[in-house]
Amino acid sequence: MEAAKTSQAWQDVQLSALKGKDVLRIDEFSASELEGLLHSAIQLKQWQKSGKAYQPLQGKTLGMIFDKSSTRTRVSFEVGMYQLGGMAMFLSGKDLQLGRGEPISDTAQVLSRYVDGIMIRTYAHEDVETLAHYADIPIINGLTDLFHPCQALADMLTILEHKGRLKGVKLAYIGDGNNVANSLVLAAALLGVDVRVATPPGYEVVEAIQQSATTYAAASGSRLLFTHDPQQAVAGADVVYTDVWTSMGFEAENEQRLKAFAGYQVNEQLVRHADPAYLFMHCLPAHRGEEVTAGVIDGPNSVVFDQAENRLHAQKAILAAVL
Ligand code: CP
Ligand code: NVA
Repeated sequence: MEAAKTSQAWQDVQLSALKGKDVLRIDEFSASELEGLLHSAIQLKQWQKSGKAYQPLQGKTLGMIFDKSSTRTRVSFEVGMYQLGGMAMFLSGKDLQLGRGEPISDTAQVLSRYVDGIMIRTYAHEDVETLAHYADIPIINGLTDLFHPCQALADMLTILEHKGRLKGVKLAYIGDGNNVANSLVLAAALLGVDVRVATPPGYEVVEAIQQSATTYAAASGSRLLFTHDPQQAVAGADVVYTDVWTSMGFEAENEQRLKAFAGYQVNEQLVRHADPAYLFMHCLPAHRGEEVTAGVIDGPNSVVFDQAENRLHAQKAILAAVL
């Protein structure tokens, strides 16, 4: 997608068509809906930067359930709701009765009587599906063990801004086939970004997700490669992306993971194989000296803080559309 063409795409997708929609996985949106959301995010970002207020969510409340830590997701959703004229409420999973065993189904039905939408960050993706099944308000996935859809939308926005297009951009993801990788691969395949994923054996992107991505890629023209060779993935890449080797909830595997991922660090030698104008991306938080060297993440090709900022703009587009 070229930035200039997004208006046309957006005209084809009415904001109202997304009203009430759950956002559990990034591929619940079609390619044109994603293009529409990106266009909306760009517009919301421009308005905010020029000091213009846009407050379509006055009187609306977002409940935010967190079973895991967060800096970016929590703050960007809360600020995003405020900027859109609504308000957000932080709900710690362990302080809710949910943490003492109240069923997700009851929690969903009770919260549906109070708030206009729920953002949830938790472990099992099935729990978010259960919440969505019983709630009659939109449920937004703020990260599960399987997916991180809001991150993927912000990532596409960041690539679009820096490269001026998405179609044909070569994206290399190196490391763990985790929640961030799963969502990134799906978003990229839908939007025509070429993706090469290099993971150690045993840490691949889930087979079913590879298959979905292959189906989307056939329609978008995206080219996919799943390999165990980081150098092959990075060769000529426009974007080099990595994430932590040990995600939240997998801490008990840390030692074993450090060994398995030893050859998968994004460092100065590896990025030498990328295009000289490559972007380095990471969803953050990062572990310098593990998945990436300080020289790369703090170097001139890194756009990690633009990427973090774009969480706000991408999520405002989602909130304005679904709430
Ligand atoms: N990238 C991301 O989701 O960051 P937080 O864990 O800080 O929310
Ligand atoms: N894969 C990481 C992402 C954190 C934002 C995790 O799940 O911990």
